[in-house]
Amino acid sequence: MSEGEGRSVRRRFAEGTTVDDLRVYMGPFVATLGYKFNTEADFVDEVLNSEIEILDATGDVYCPCRIRTGDPKEDLKIVCPCIPFHSEQFAAMRKCWCGLFIRDDVEDGADLLGVIEEPSPGERVEVPVCRVSDLAPGQVRHVKVGRSDVAIARVADEFFALSNVCRHAFGPLSDGVLEGYEVMCPWHGWRYDVRDGSTDHPDADVKTYPVVVRDGLVLVSVTAR
Ligand code: SF4
Ligand code: FES
Repeated sequence: MSEGEGRSVRRRFAEGTTVDDLRVYMGPFVATLGYKFNTEADFVDEVLNSEIEILDATGDVYCPCRIRTGDPKEDLKIVCPCIPFHSEQFAAMRKCWCGLFIRDDVEDGADLLGVIEEPSPGERVEVPVCRVSDLAPGQVRHVKVGRSDVAIARVADEFFALSNVCRHAFGPLSDGVLEGYEVMCPWHGWRYDVRDGSTDHPDADVKTYPVVVRDGLVLVSVTAR
């Protein structure tokens, strides 16, 4: 059966998509992750033009600097912008592999073009997860940091990060209610202290992560894998 017969194939971009369309689509999305287009405009044009060529040839904007495996599930992880799938590596490099996107806190992206060395396993990495303004006091939200599901909680002007997975029956803590420093699981009401992940239930504390706030960004510190 040829591709598309008997099922609908998702095509994110219509035929005739331009570099400007990609800019408009990708810019706001990567901004929510704490990234922006590289400051080297010619390089950005070059990469986006390559992506248009790949789109025309394959039907999606696969990364120009990665090799596709042929496994659709695996290859989804290199559809641009692929930042959420590789957030630990990119946070450490301050850029995505290609250098199309750089972290918001990088002023000049000229040294960050193309593929450079990735972080070694075990290296500490500060991963931007949201902007301070994205989260009102008293709110909790779910973010992905590498493969981990993390809940970011804001209490007044303090930010905390803890595992999003309740130890009772895996409820999503980010859907729970935050009262002071305690988040209550939405499923059966277990409570966790967002400062240290502790709960009154035995051996059921959740992991917490150090958080720093810098230049309006919330960054979670994790160990690169
Ligand atoms: S490495 Fe950069 S250019 Fe390549 S897919 Fe990921 S975000 Fe896009
Ligand atoms: S799953 Fe969280 S309290 Fe039951």
